[in-house]
Amino acid sequence: MASNINCVLKIITCLLFIRAGFCNIQPPIVNPSVLTPSKTLGECQACKLFVESFKKGLERTARGKYEGGDAAWEEEKLKKSYKRSEMRLIDIQDGICKEEKDYSIQCHHIAEKAEEYIESWWAQNPDESDDLFSYICVDNLKMCCPKHHFGKECTPCPGDHNNLCSGNGKCRGDGTRKGNGTCLCDAGYTGENCDQCSVGYYLSYKDDNKMLCSPCHRACMGGCRQGTQKDCAACKPGFIFDSDEGCLDINECDDINRCTKDQFCLNSIGSFACIPCDKSCSGCHGDGPDMCRKCAKGYSKKGEFCVGDREDEDPMEAMTASRYMTYIGLLIATGILMPKSTSLGSLVGAMVLTYIVGAEYYCMINGHEGLVKLKDFDLAQLFRT
Ligand SMILES: *[C@@H]1O[C@H](CO)[C@@H](O)[C@H](O)[C@H]1NC(C)=O
Repeated sequence: MASNINCVLKIITCLLFIRAGFCNIQPPIVNPSVLTPSKTLGECQACKLFVESFKKGLERTARGKYEGGDAAWEEEKLKKSYKRSEMRLIDIQDGICKEEKDYSIQCHHIAEKAEEYIESWWAQNPDESDDLFSYICVDNLKMCCPKHHFGKECTPCPGDHNNLCSGNGKCRGDGTRKGNGTCLCDAGYTGENCDQCSVGYYLSYKDDNKMLCSPCHRACMGGCRQGTQKDCAACKPGFIFDSDEGCLDINECDDINRCTKDQFCLNSIGSFACIPCDKSCSGCHGDGPDMCRKCAKGYSKKGEFCVGDREDEDPMEAMTASRYMTYIGLLIATGILMPKSTSLGSLVGAMVLTYIVGAEYYCMINGHEGLVKLKDFDLAQLFRT
C-alpha cells in the first residue's frame, strides 16, 4: 500500500511539472535588486548608523513600558525607574540596527564592539544622547574624527574651516580616521584648493568667497570661453566648425551609403546609428513594416504595409495539440494500470480526470483555448454525461 501511495505521489509531482509547460504562463519576474550583493559602508559611516539607531531606540522607549499603573504617582514612579533601568537598555538593544535593512550586519558588528562602552555610558548619563556619537565613534571605537578633522590622529583639515577647498570640494577623510587631508574637488573643479576650473568647464561666476565653474557646450572639445557652441576652443568629432554658428552637428545620414542595405540611418547630436529594418522590408527609410522601400521575400505590399503572404502557424495551436497528446498518454497509462491493480488504477484514473478538468479550467481562466470555450462551459453538463 505504501508503495502505491508513493507511486501516486510521483505521478502527481510529474503532472505538476507537465502543467508548468502547458499554457505558456510567464515565470514570475525576479526583482534584480534582491540578487545584487548588499553594499558596504565605511567604518565611520557604520558607527554613525549604529548611534542613530541607538538614539531611535531611546526615543522608542522614552515613554516607558509600564503605562496604566493603579495611581498616577505609581505610574510616575515606575516610569522613573524604567528610564535608567537595565530593562530599558535591553529593550533598546533588542531593536538595535533592525531598521537599517541594507547595512544591518555592519551595524550589528559595531553594536557588538560598542557594547561595553554603551553600558558604562548608560550607567552615567543616559539622558544626554547628544555626545553619544563622539563618545562611541570618536573617543572609544576610534572610527571617526570630529568634523573637519581627518586621519589616524584626527589632524585638522588644512585651510580655512569655513571655506574648505574653496567650497568646491572636501578634505579627504573629513570626519573619519582615513584620508590625507588634501582636497577632493567636486566635478568641474581642480587645483590644490579646488579654485580652478577643470578642462571642459569655464568660470561662470566669481566673487570674494565663491567661484562657479560650468560645463562647456557638448559640441566643444578642449575647453571654452563661455557656455555656447560658439565659445568652443575646438569641436568634438561629429561636429564641424562654422564661422557664424560655431560647432554644428554633422548629419552623417546625408551620406546614403552610411549604413547597409537592410538598415536605416538615424542621426543624433554628435553621432548616428544604423538600425536594422523590419523583417518584412528589403531596404527601408525608417522603423516598422510601413517604412519599407521594397517588401522582403514572402511579403507583399498592402497599402502602406508589407504583410506576410501566408500567416504563420499559430504557436498557440501547436501548444494546444501537445496538451491533448499528453491527455491521451495519461488515459492510456491509466488503461494499462487498471487491470493490474483496480484500486490503484481507479485512483489514478480519477486523478487524471481531475487533472484534465483542472488543466482545461486553468487554461481557460488564463485566456487560452481549451477543450471547450469558457463562454459555453457548462459544469452541470459535465456530470450529466
Ligand atoms: C592623498 O591621497 C590621494 C588619494 O588617496 C592621493 O592621490 C594623493 O597623492 C595623496 N596626497 C598626498 C600629499 O599624500
